[in-house]
Amino acid sequence: MSCFGVRVAALWCAVVLMVIMGELPMSTDAQASGLDPSFYKNTCPKVHSIVREVIRNVSKTDPRMLASLIRLHFHDCFVQGCDASILLNDTKTIASEQSAPPNANSIRGLDVVNKIKTEVEKACPGVVSCADILALAAEISTVLGQGPDWKVPLGRRDSTTANKTLAGINLPAPSFDLPRLISAFKNQGLNVTDLVALSGAHTFGRARCQFITNRLYNFSNTAKPDPTLNTTYLQQLRTICPINGNGNTLTNFDPATPDTFDKNYYSNLLIRKGLLQSDQELFSTPGAETVSIVNNFSSDQNAFFEAFKASMIKMGNIGVVTGKNGEIRKQCNFINSQSVELGLGVYNSEHGGMVSSY
Ligand SMILES: *[C@@H]1O[C@H](CO)[C@@H](O)[C@H](O)[C@H]1NC(C)=O
Ligand SMILES: *[C@@H]1O[C@H](CO)[C@@H](O)[C@H](O)[C@H]1NC(C)=O
Ligand SMILES: *[C@@H]1O[C@H](CO)[C@@H](O)[C@H](O)[C@H]1NC(C)=O
Ligand SMILES: *[C@@H]1O[C@H](CO)[C@@H](O)[C@H](O)[C@H]1NC(C)=O
Ligand SMILES: *[C@@H]1O[C@H](CO)[C@@H](O)[C@H](O)[C@H]1NC(C)=O
Ligand SMILES: *[C@@H]1O[C@H](CO)[C@@H](O)[C@H](O)[C@H]1NC(C)=O
Ligand SMILES: *[C@@H]1O[C@H](CO)[C@@H](O)[C@H](O)[C@H]1NC(C)=O
Repeated sequence: MSCFGVRVAALWCAVVLMVIMGELPMSTDAQASGLDPSFYKNTCPKVHSIVREVIRNVSKTDPRMLASLIRLHFHDCFVQGCDASILLNDTKTIASEQSAPPNANSIRGLDVVNKIKTEVEKACPGVVSCADILALAAEISTVLGQGPDWKVPLGRRDSTTANKTLAGINLPAPSFDLPRLISAFKNQGLNVTDLVALSGAHTFGRARCQFITNRLYNFSNTAKPDPTLNTTYLQQLRTICPINGNGNTLTNFDPATPDTFDKNYYSNLLIRKGLLQSDQELFSTPGAETVSIVNNFSSDQNAFFEAFKASMIKMGNIGVVTGKNGEIRKQCNFINSQSVELGLGVYNSEHGGMVSSY
Protein backbone atom coordinates (compact mmCIF):
# COMPACT_ATOMS: atom_id res chain seq x y z
CA MET A 1 0.00 0.00 0.00
CA SER A 2 1.28 3.47 -0.67
CA CYS A 3 0.60 6.88 0.76
CA PHE A 4 2.24 10.01 -0.61
CA GLY A 5 3.84 7.72 -3.18
CA VAL A 6 5.75 5.74 -0.56
CA ARG A 7 5.00 2.11 0.19
CA VAL A 8 4.11 1.82 3.87
CA ALA A 9 1.76 -0.02 6.19
CA ALA A 10 -1.87 1.10 6.10
CA LEU A 11 -1.99 1.95 9.80
CA TRP A 12 1.06 4.20 9.55
CA CYS A 13 -0.56 5.91 6.58
CA ALA A 14 -3.65 6.66 8.63
CA VAL A 15 -1.60 8.02 11.52
CA VAL A 16 0.35 10.31 9.20
CA LEU A 17 -2.89 11.59 7.72
CA MET A 18 -4.41 12.18 11.15
CA VAL A 19 -1.33 14.13 12.25
CA ILE A 20 -1.42 16.22 9.10
CA MET A 21 -5.10 16.90 9.55
CA GLY A 22 -4.63 17.70 13.24
CA GLU A 23 -6.98 14.96 14.36
CA LEU A 24 -4.79 13.31 16.96
CA PRO A 25 -5.72 14.35 20.49
CA MET A 26 -3.09 16.31 22.41
CA SER A 27 -0.69 13.75 23.80
CA THR A 28 0.10 13.50 27.48
CA ASP A 29 2.63 10.75 27.07
CA ALA A 30 6.27 11.84 27.35
CA GLN A 31 7.48 9.84 24.39
CA ALA A 32 4.62 10.86 22.14
CA SER A 33 5.22 14.51 23.10
CA GLY A 34 8.78 14.13 21.82
CA LEU A 35 10.39 14.91 25.18
CA ASP A 36 13.22 12.85 26.65
CA PRO A 37 15.00 13.12 30.03
CA SER A 38 18.36 12.60 28.30
CA PHE A 39 17.75 15.33 25.70
CA TYR A 40 20.79 17.39 26.82
CA LYS A 41 23.04 14.39 27.57
CA ASN A 42 25.55 15.39 24.92
CA THR A 43 24.81 19.09 24.44
CA CYS A 44 24.57 20.24 28.08
CA PRO A 45 25.29 17.35 30.44
CA LYS A 46 25.58 19.58 33.52
CA VAL A 47 22.30 21.45 33.09
CA HIS A 48 20.60 19.76 36.05
CA SER A 49 23.44 20.50 38.47
CA ILE A 50 23.75 24.10 37.25
CA VAL A 51 20.04 24.76 37.81
CA ARG A 52 20.23 23.01 41.16
CA GLU A 53 23.14 25.10 42.42
CA VAL A 54 21.44 28.42 41.68
CA ILE A 55 18.17 27.36 43.31
CA ARG A 56 19.92 25.86 46.33
CA ASN A 57 21.78 29.14 46.89
CA VAL A 58 18.68 31.27 46.57
CA SER A 59 16.56 29.02 48.80
CA LYS A 60 19.00 29.38 51.70
CA THR A 61 17.88 32.96 52.17
CA ASP A 62 14.46 32.63 50.51
CA PRO A 63 12.94 29.21 51.30
CA ARG A 64 9.63 30.32 49.82
CA MET A 65 11.28 30.40 46.38
CA LEU A 66 10.94 26.61 46.04
CA ALA A 67 7.15 26.83 46.03
CA SER A 68 7.26 29.94 43.84
CA LEU A 69 9.24 28.12 41.14
CA ILE A 70 6.79 25.19 41.04
CA ARG A 71 3.97 27.71 40.67
CA LEU A 72 5.82 29.45 37.82
CA HIS A 73 5.99 26.18 35.82
CA PHE A 74 2.29 25.50 36.54
CA HIS A 75 1.27 29.02 35.47
CA ASP A 76 3.33 28.59 32.32
CA CYS A 77 1.87 25.20 31.34
CA PHE A 78 -1.79 26.19 31.76
CA VAL A 79 -1.47 29.01 29.23
CA GLN A 80 -0.79 27.83 25.65
CA GLY A 81 1.39 25.00 27.02
CA CYS A 82 4.78 24.68 28.76
CA ASP A 83 6.53 27.09 26.42
CA ALA A 84 7.95 29.78 28.75
CA SER A 85 5.30 32.22 27.49
CA ILE A 86 4.89 33.42 31.10
CA LEU A 87 8.45 34.74 31.07
CA LEU A 88 7.88 37.13 28.16
CA ASN A 89 7.78 40.80 29.13
CA ASP A 90 5.63 43.52 27.63
CA THR A 91 6.89 44.79 24.27
CA LYS A 92 5.30 46.36 21.21
CA THR A 93 4.04 42.96 20.07
CA ILE A 94 3.79 40.97 23.33
CA ALA A 95 1.09 41.53 25.97
CA SER A 96 2.78 39.93 28.97
CA GLU A 97 1.00 37.19 30.90
CA GLN A 98 2.80 38.53 33.97
CA SER A 99 0.23 41.29 34.41
CA ALA A 100 -2.84 39.03 34.01
CA PRO A 101 -4.82 38.86 37.29
CA PRO A 102 -3.61 35.35 38.34
CA ASN A 103 0.02 36.48 37.97
CA ALA A 104 0.09 40.19 38.78
CA ASN A 105 1.98 40.90 42.01
CA SER A 106 2.11 37.20 42.73
CA ILE A 107 4.50 35.41 40.37
CA ARG A 108 7.98 35.20 41.80
CA GLY A 109 11.31 33.87 40.60
CA LEU A 110 11.69 35.67 37.26
CA ASP A 111 15.07 36.93 38.47
CA VAL A 112 16.07 33.43 39.61
CA VAL A 113 15.20 32.02 36.18
CA ASN A 114 17.33 34.72 34.55
CA LYS A 115 20.21 33.86 36.87
CA ILE A 116 19.86 30.19 35.95
CA LYS A 117 19.73 31.04 32.26
CA THR A 118 22.91 33.13 32.53
CA GLU A 119 24.76 30.25 34.20
CA VAL A 120 23.42 27.70 31.70
CA GLU A 121 24.35 29.93 28.74
CA LYS A 122 27.92 30.17 30.07
CA ALA A 123 28.21 26.37 30.04
CA CYS A 124 26.24 25.62 26.85
CA PRO A 125 25.28 28.70 24.84
CA GLY A 126 22.07 28.61 22.80
CA VAL A 127 21.12 25.07 23.76
CA VAL A 128 18.74 24.94 26.73
CA SER A 129 15.24 26.40 26.46
CA CYS A 130 13.67 28.61 29.12
CA ALA A 131 10.67 26.24 29.15
CA ASP A 132 12.96 23.33 30.11
CA ILE A 133 14.58 25.48 32.80
CA LEU A 134 11.11 26.03 34.33
CA ALA A 135 10.38 22.28 34.28
CA LEU A 136 13.77 21.42 35.81
CA ALA A 137 13.39 24.16 38.42
CA ALA A 138 10.05 22.69 39.52
CA GLU A 139 11.54 19.21 40.04
CA ILE A 140 14.65 20.53 41.78
CA SER A 141 12.53 22.73 44.06
CA THR A 142 10.44 19.71 45.05
CA VAL A 143 13.60 17.75 45.92
CA LEU A 144 15.17 20.65 47.85
CA GLY A 145 11.96 20.80 49.90
CA GLN A 146 12.53 17.11 50.76
CA GLY A 147 9.94 15.86 48.29
CA PRO A 148 10.31 13.21 45.56
CA ASP A 149 12.63 13.36 42.56
CA TRP A 150 11.86 12.30 39.01
CA LYS A 151 13.49 12.31 35.59
CA VAL A 152 12.21 15.45 33.89
CA PRO A 153 11.34 14.92 30.21
CA LEU A 154 13.22 17.62 28.24
CA GLY A 155 13.46 19.09 24.77
CA ARG A 156 10.81 21.82 24.92
CA ARG A 157 11.33 24.91 22.79
CA ASP A 158 10.27 28.43 23.72
CA SER A 159 7.26 30.20 22.26
CA THR A 160 7.43 33.40 20.27
CA THR A 161 4.03 34.49 21.61
CA ALA A 162 2.24 34.98 24.92
CA ASN A 163 -1.46 35.19 25.73
CA LYS A 164 -2.45 37.48 28.58
CA THR A 165 -6.18 36.93 28.03
CA LEU A 166 -5.77 33.17 28.20
CA ALA A 167 -3.85 33.49 31.48
CA GLY A 168 -6.92 35.22 32.91
CA ILE A 169 -9.18 32.44 31.64
CA ASN A 170 -7.21 29.20 32.17
CA LEU A 171 -5.63 29.58 35.58
CA PRO A 172 -7.73 28.48 38.55
CA ALA A 173 -8.45 31.08 41.26
CA PRO A 174 -8.22 30.62 45.05
CA SER A 175 -11.98 31.14 45.30
CA PHE A 176 -12.88 28.36 42.86
CA ASP A 177 -15.31 25.72 44.05
CA LEU A 178 -14.68 22.08 43.20
CA PRO A 179 -16.60 21.91 39.88
CA ARG A 180 -14.66 24.90 38.56
CA LEU A 181 -11.34 23.43 39.72
CA ILE A 182 -12.11 20.10 38.07
CA SER A 183 -13.08 21.83 34.86
CA ALA A 184 -9.96 24.07 34.78
CA PHE A 185 -7.76 20.96 35.07
CA LYS A 186 -9.87 18.94 32.63
CA ASN A 187 -9.38 21.70 30.06
CA GLN A 188 -5.66 20.92 30.25
CA GLY A 189 -6.14 17.16 29.96
CA LEU A 190 -5.64 16.65 33.72
CA ASN A 191 -8.02 14.49 35.74
CA VAL A 192 -9.30 14.57 39.32
CA THR A 193 -6.30 12.64 40.67
CA ASP A 194 -3.98 15.13 38.99
CA LEU A 195 -5.94 18.00 40.57
CA VAL A 196 -5.59 16.54 44.07
CA ALA A 197 -1.93 15.54 43.60
CA LEU A 198 -0.84 18.87 42.10
CA SER A 199 -2.72 20.83 44.79
CA GLY A 200 -0.31 19.10 47.17
CA ALA A 201 2.32 21.63 46.09
CA HIS A 202 0.56 23.82 48.67
CA THR A 203 2.45 21.75 51.24
CA PHE A 204 4.87 24.66 51.31
CA GLY A 205 5.01 28.31 50.29
CA ARG A 206 2.90 31.31 51.32
CA ALA A 207 -0.25 33.10 50.27
CA ARG A 208 -1.31 36.69 50.75
CA CYS A 209 -4.06 37.58 53.22
CA GLN A 210 -6.19 39.16 50.50
CA PHE A 211 -7.01 35.70 49.17
CA ILE A 212 -8.49 34.49 52.45
CA THR A 213 -10.08 37.55 54.08
CA ASN A 214 -13.49 36.62 52.71
CA ARG A 215 -13.17 33.17 54.28
CA LEU A 216 -12.26 34.74 57.61
CA TYR A 217 -14.91 37.44 57.84
CA ASN A 218 -17.56 37.40 55.14
CA PHE A 219 -17.71 34.15 53.25
CA SER A 220 -19.96 34.34 50.16
CA ASN A 221 -21.46 37.54 51.59
CA THR A 222 -22.83 35.70 54.64
CA ALA A 223 -21.09 38.08 57.07
CA LYS A 224 -19.76 34.88 58.66
CA PRO A 225 -16.55 32.87 58.21
CA ASP A 226 -16.33 29.86 55.93
CA PRO A 227 -18.04 27.08 57.92
CA THR A 228 -15.49 24.54 56.65
CA LEU A 229 -12.65 26.39 58.44
CA ASN A 230 -11.31 24.85 61.65
CA THR A 231 -12.29 27.32 64.41
CA THR A 232 -8.87 27.20 66.08
CA TYR A 233 -7.19 27.83 62.75
CA LEU A 234 -9.71 30.59 62.02
CA GLN A 235 -8.62 32.46 65.15
CA GLN A 236 -4.94 32.03 64.23
CA LEU A 237 -5.53 33.29 60.71
CA ARG A 238 -7.57 36.26 61.95
CA THR A 239 -4.58 37.31 64.07
CA ILE A 240 -2.28 37.15 61.04
CA CYS A 241 -4.85 38.72 58.69
CA PRO A 242 -6.91 41.26 60.65
CA ILE A 243 -10.02 42.75 59.07
CA ASN A 244 -9.02 45.79 56.98
CA GLY A 245 -5.38 44.78 57.50
CA ASN A 246 -2.65 44.70 54.87
CA GLY A 247 -3.79 42.32 52.14
CA ASN A 248 -0.17 41.66 51.17
CA THR A 249 0.75 40.10 54.51
CA LEU A 250 1.89 36.53 54.00
CA THR A 251 0.67 33.40 55.70
CA ASN A 252 1.97 29.83 55.43
CA PHE A 253 0.06 27.34 53.35
CA ASP A 254 1.02 24.54 55.73
CA PRO A 255 0.85 25.57 59.41
CA ALA A 256 2.45 22.26 60.46
CA THR A 257 5.63 22.14 58.29
CA PRO A 258 5.70 25.42 56.30
CA ASP A 259 8.86 24.79 54.24
CA THR A 260 8.81 21.03 53.81
CA PHE A 261 7.36 19.08 50.91
CA ASP A 262 5.37 16.33 52.66
CA LYS A 263 1.85 14.90 52.99
CA ASN A 264 0.81 17.38 55.71
CA TYR A 265 -1.17 19.37 53.16
CA TYR A 266 -3.68 16.50 53.10
CA SER A 267 -3.57 15.88 56.87
CA ASN A 268 -4.39 19.57 57.27
CA LEU A 269 -7.43 19.25 55.01
CA LEU A 270 -8.76 16.43 57.23
CA ILE A 271 -8.73 18.77 60.25
CA ARG A 272 -10.18 21.66 58.18
CA LYS A 273 -6.92 23.54 57.94
CA GLY A 274 -6.77 24.14 54.21
CA LEU A 275 -5.71 27.74 53.63
CA LEU A 276 -7.56 28.62 50.44
CA GLN A 277 -11.13 27.78 49.59
CA SER A 278 -9.74 25.89 46.57
CA ASP A 279 -7.73 23.72 48.99
CA GLN A 280 -10.46 22.86 51.48
CA GLU A 281 -12.99 22.18 48.70
CA LEU A 282 -11.07 18.97 47.88
CA PHE A 283 -12.05 17.46 51.22
CA SER A 284 -15.12 19.38 52.39
CA THR A 285 -17.32 19.05 49.32
CA PRO A 286 -19.91 16.44 50.34
CA GLY A 287 -19.75 13.25 48.29
CA ALA A 288 -16.94 14.46 46.05
CA GLU A 289 -14.65 11.95 44.37
CA THR A 290 -11.66 13.96 45.62
CA VAL A 291 -12.34 13.03 49.28
CA SER A 292 -11.06 9.46 49.05
CA ILE A 293 -7.95 10.64 47.22
CA VAL A 294 -7.24 13.20 49.98
CA ASN A 295 -7.75 10.44 52.56
CA ASN A 296 -5.36 8.19 50.70
CA PHE A 297 -2.59 10.82 50.36
CA SER A 298 -2.99 11.94 54.00
CA SER A 299 -2.21 8.46 55.25
CA ASP A 300 0.24 7.35 52.58
CA GLN A 301 3.04 9.78 51.69
CA ASN A 302 4.45 7.37 49.14
CA ALA A 303 1.11 7.30 47.30
CA PHE A 304 1.13 11.13 47.24
CA PHE A 305 4.73 11.30 46.00
CA GLU A 306 4.13 8.75 43.23
CA ALA A 307 0.99 10.56 42.10
CA PHE A 308 2.70 13.96 42.26
CA LYS A 309 5.57 12.77 40.06
CA ALA A 310 3.20 11.33 37.47
CA SER A 311 1.01 14.44 37.44
CA MET A 312 3.98 16.81 37.16
CA ILE A 313 5.26 14.89 34.14
CA LYS A 314 1.75 14.94 32.66
CA MET A 315 1.44 18.70 33.26
CA GLY A 316 4.93 19.23 31.83
CA ASN A 317 3.78 17.69 28.55
CA ILE A 318 0.94 20.14 27.97
CA GLY A 319 1.23 21.89 24.62
CA VAL A 320 4.98 21.53 24.35
CA VAL A 321 6.73 23.07 21.37
CA THR A 322 9.31 20.80 19.73
CA GLY A 323 10.93 20.31 16.33
CA LYS A 324 11.18 23.30 14.05
CA ASN A 325 8.60 25.38 15.89
CA GLY A 326 9.58 27.84 18.56
CA GLU A 327 13.13 28.82 19.44
CA ILE A 328 15.75 28.62 22.16
CA ARG A 329 15.53 32.08 23.68
CA LYS A 330 18.78 33.85 24.46
CA GLN A 331 17.12 35.94 27.16
CA CYS A 332 14.04 34.41 28.73
CA ASN A 333 12.03 37.64 28.92
CA PHE A 334 12.15 38.37 25.18
CA ILE A 335 11.79 36.50 21.91
CA ASN A 336 15.11 36.42 20.06
CA SER A 337 14.24 38.97 17.38
CA GLN A 338 13.33 41.46 20.11
CA SER A 339 16.37 40.64 22.27
CA VAL A 340 18.48 41.92 19.41
CA GLU A 341 16.34 45.03 18.93
CA LEU A 342 16.60 45.77 22.64
CA GLY A 343 20.37 45.41 22.55
CA LEU A 344 20.53 42.83 25.30
CA GLY A 345 24.02 41.70 24.34
CA VAL A 346 22.95 38.47 22.72
CA TYR A 347 24.73 36.57 20.02
CA ASN A 348 23.25 37.48 16.67
CA SER A 349 24.18 34.97 14.02
CA GLU A 350 23.05 37.23 11.17
CA HIS A 351 25.54 39.88 12.23
CA GLY A 352 28.10 37.25 13.09
CA GLY A 353 28.95 38.36 16.59
CA MET A 354 27.92 39.84 19.90
CA VAL A 355 25.54 42.74 19.69
CA SER A 356 25.85 44.75 22.87
CA SER A 357 23.81 47.73 21.79
CA TYR A 358 21.87 48.87 18.79
C1 LIG B 1 26.43 29.45 45.28
O1 LIG B 1 26.96 29.88 46.52
C2 LIG B 1 28.32 29.53 46.68
C3 LIG B 1 28.74 29.87 48.09
O2 LIG B 1 28.16 31.06 48.53
C4 LIG B 1 29.15 30.25 45.63
O3 LIG B 1 30.50 29.90 45.74
C5 LIG B 1 28.65 29.86 44.25
O4 LIG B 1 29.32 30.63 43.26
C6 LIG B 1 27.16 30.10 44.12
N1 LIG B 1 26.72 29.56 42.86
C7 LIG B 1 25.83 30.13 42.07
C8 LIG B 1 25.54 29.42 40.80
O5 LIG B 1 25.25 31.16 42.37
C1 LIG C 1 10.65 41.96 32.79
O1 LIG C 1 9.52 42.41 33.51
C2 LIG C 1 9.65 42.26 34.92
C3 LIG C 1 8.34 42.66 35.55
O2 LIG C 1 7.32 41.78 35.17
C4 LIG C 1 10.79 43.12 35.42
O3 LIG C 1 10.98 42.93 36.79
C5 LIG C 1 12.07 42.73 34.69
O4 LIG C 1 13.10 43.61 35.05
C6 LIG C 1 11.88 42.75 33.19
N1 LIG C 1 13.04 42.13 32.61
C7 LIG C 1 13.82 42.75 31.74
C8 LIG C 1 15.01 41.98 31.28
O5 LIG C 1 13.60 43.89 31.34
C1 LIG D 1 -5.33 34.07 23.10
O1 LIG D 1 -6.14 32.93 23.22
C2 LIG D 1 -7.47 33.15 22.82
C3 LIG D 1 -8.28 31.91 23.18
O2 LIG D 1 -7.66 30.75 22.68
C4 LIG D 1 -7.51 33.46 21.33
O3 LIG D 1 -8.83 33.70 20.92
C5 LIG D 1 -6.64 34.70 21.08
O4 LIG D 1 -6.56 34.93 19.71
C6 LIG D 1 -5.25 34.50 21.65
N1 LIG D 1 -4.53 35.77 21.60
C7 LIG D 1 -3.27 35.84 21.20
C8 LIG D 1 -2.64 37.20 21.30
O5 LIG D 1 -2.66 34.87 20.80
C1 LIG E 1 -5.91 10.08 36.12
O1 LIG E 1 -4.92 9.82 35.18
C2 LIG E 1 -3.92 8.90 35.62
C3 LIG E 1 -2.93 8.73 34.53
O2 LIG E 1 -2.40 9.95 34.16
C4 LIG E 1 -4.52 7.58 35.99
O3 LIG E 1 -3.53 6.74 36.52
C5 LIG E 1 -5.61 7.78 37.00
O4 LIG E 1 -6.26 6.55 37.25
C6 LIG E 1 -6.62 8.78 36.51
N1 LIG E 1 -7.56 9.07 37.61
C7 LIG E 1 -8.84 9.24 37.43
C8 LIG E 1 -9.65 9.54 38.65
O5 LIG E 1 -9.36 9.19 36.33
C1 LIG F 1 -20.19 41.13 53.18
O1 LIG F 1 -20.04 41.39 51.80
C2 LIG F 1 -21.19 41.95 51.21
C3 LIG F 1 -20.94 42.06 49.71
O2 LIG F 1 -19.68 42.62 49.45
C4 LIG F 1 -21.47 43.32 51.84
O3 LIG F 1 -22.64 43.86 51.27
C5 LIG F 1 -21.65 43.14 53.34
O4 LIG F 1 -21.78 44.41 53.93
C6 LIG F 1 -20.45 42.42 53.92
N1 LIG F 1 -20.69 42.15 55.32
C7 LIG F 1 -19.83 42.43 56.26
C8 LIG F 1 -20.21 42.09 57.67
O5 LIG F 1 -18.74 42.93 56.01
C1 LIG G 1 -9.26 21.72 64.55
O1 LIG G 1 -7.87 21.63 64.81
C2 LIG G 1 -7.55 21.00 66.06
C3 LIG G 1 -6.05 21.02 66.20
O2 LIG G 1 -5.57 22.35 66.13
C4 LIG G 1 -8.06 19.59 66.05
O3 LIG G 1 -7.81 18.98 67.31
C5 LIG G 1 -9.55 19.57 65.76
O4 LIG G 1 -10.00 18.26 65.64
C6 LIG G 1 -9.85 20.33 64.47
N1 LIG G 1 -11.30 20.44 64.25
C7 LIG G 1 -11.92 19.85 63.23
C8 LIG G 1 -13.37 20.08 63.13
O5 LIG G 1 -11.35 19.15 62.42
C1 LIG H 1 -3.54 4.74 48.26
O1 LIG H 1 -3.80 4.42 46.91
C2 LIG H 1 -2.81 3.56 46.34
C3 LIG H 1 -3.11 3.45 44.84
O2 LIG H 1 -4.44 3.17 44.62
C4 LIG H 1 -2.84 2.22 47.04
O3 LIG H 1 -1.86 1.37 46.51
C5 LIG H 1 -2.56 2.44 48.53
O4 LIG H 1 -2.68 1.23 49.23
C6 LIG H 1 -3.53 3.47 49.10
N1 LIG H 1 -3.10 3.77 50.47
C7 LIG H 1 -3.97 3.84 51.47
C8 LIG H 1 -3.37 4.11 52.81
O5 LIG H 1 -5.19 3.74 51.31
